[in-house]
Amino acid sequence: MIDYTEKIPNNVDLGRDRVLQRALEHWQPAYLSWWYDMGPNESHNFEVYLRTAISVEPDGWAQFDYVKMPEYRWGIFLQPRDEKRQVNFGMHKGQPAWQDVPGEYRSILRRIVVTQGDTEPASVEQQKMLGLSCPSLYDLRNIFQVNVEEGRHLWAMVYLLHRYFGRDGREEAESLLARRSGDTDNPRILGAFNEPTPDWLAFYMFTFFTDRDGKFQLCALAESGFDPLARTCRFMLTEEAHHMFVGESGVSRIIQRTCEVMKENKVDTPADVRALGVIDLQTIQRYLNFHYSVTLDLYGSDVSSNAANYYTSGLKGRFRETKLEDDHILQDAAYPVSEVVGDKIVTKQVSALTALNERLRDDYIEEIQAGVNRWQRVIDEAGIPFRLTLPHKGFHREIGNFAGHFISTTGEILTEEQWKAHEFKWLPSPEDYKYVQSLMSGRVTELGKFANWIAPPVKGINGRPLDFQYVRFN
Ligand SMILES: [Fe+2]
Ligand SMILES: [Fe+2]
Repeated sequence: MIDYTEKIPNNVDLGRDRVLQRALEHWQPAYLSWWYDMGPNESHNFEVYLRTAISVEPDGWAQFDYVKMPEYRWGIFLQPRDEKRQVNFGMHKGQPAWQDVPGEYRSILRRIVVTQGDTEPASVEQQKMLGLSCPSLYDLRNIFQVNVEEGRHLWAMVYLLHRYFGRDGREEAESLLARRSGDTDNPRILGAFNEPTPDWLAFYMFTFFTDRDGKFQLCALAESGFDPLARTCRFMLTEEAHHMFVGESGVSRIIQRTCEVMKENKVDTPADVRALGVIDLQTIQRYLNFHYSVTLDLYGSDVSSNAANYYTSGLKGRFRETKLEDDHILQDAAYPVSEVVGDKIVTKQVSALTALNERLRDDYIEEIQAGVNRWQRVIDEAGIPFRLTLPHKGFHREIGNFAGHFISTTGEILTEEQWKAHEFKWLPSPEDYKYVQSLMSGRVTELGKFANWIAPPVKGINGRPLDFQYVRFN
């Protein structure tokens, strides 16, 4: 169970380590002032029907109640330790899992923790203004839930920094509160976390695509031989699942509403669809293309000696590492990677160790495709002849083998000029953004009411009805 009588709720017996406790209590006000600055805009007095972790057991870890977000009990929750756990891959395979940071891996591990930690506050910053244009109280509550949990994910990483990385760790924890998404001088570390999230379609796409990158990174780190990191990530994954649900169901409800309006009014051109105040499927496809491609970049270079090192050292595993049936060393294994040669995309076999980024990206794509197929079913059931597709892996990429090439959504290699001529057929144009934002000019706050451009969800939160007061504004 989690001790909520402490200033910082935790299940790591924080009270026993006074130095650490004091360091974290020192960081806590800095965190809060970051939340006041960069958390959801003008929300500090709202009472939000939020869930809070009360135990790390899979059933019943959540308690629901009204909470003012700055009073949310952010804390430190790790999955319980398995005394028999081992390093399950790489050159240390079979050794007991490390309870402390191995000296030789200190700087790499710190880098891994900082890079993961940096994404958490970044997404809160990216979503800061969206509460002002929510389509319902239900959705407003959901974005706030995502935001407070991303805040807790920051706590999760900061705990590791303070507990295991000494003075350097404390400095990194401060820098995590100093960088800002999209800032020219001091941006967040990874590209996708500096992109704006200007509207609710972008928010749902972000939580579907980019929070799922979070899931895959956490899954890989949950395999780590450094046990405290693995246990931290395992608990974070239970929270991440809700973020992806918000994204998938959000996009699905937008598609559903568009299809309903198209059917009722027997219209199909984007202009006619827009005239009825919903988002045309073509625009949804362009948003999908954008969020998919910028998220694919987060996995890093297709061929990477860093990725090989992380694995061989036992620091970062593969997706579901312990469920895979091979030697977990990969010294002689190969994996296919694509690259552009002349005017063709060719696939070649490379060392599986250097291709681990690509492998994780492929695992991710498989899950994404399944989600897109579920969206497609909504369109099919409405009897509308439109196909949502994932663009080619090389489309609109800035990192890895496709960077610097101009590849169409269907995988043709084009000149820059040809590509530019099609850009806004494939990616949202300034007009698309303007249109979508025009639908979201204010908050919908009437109980049980939903904006015209989105269908209501199937059910409410925690068994509550759809017309429940999910947020009190005071
Ligand atoms: Fe997160
Ligand atoms: Fe998340």
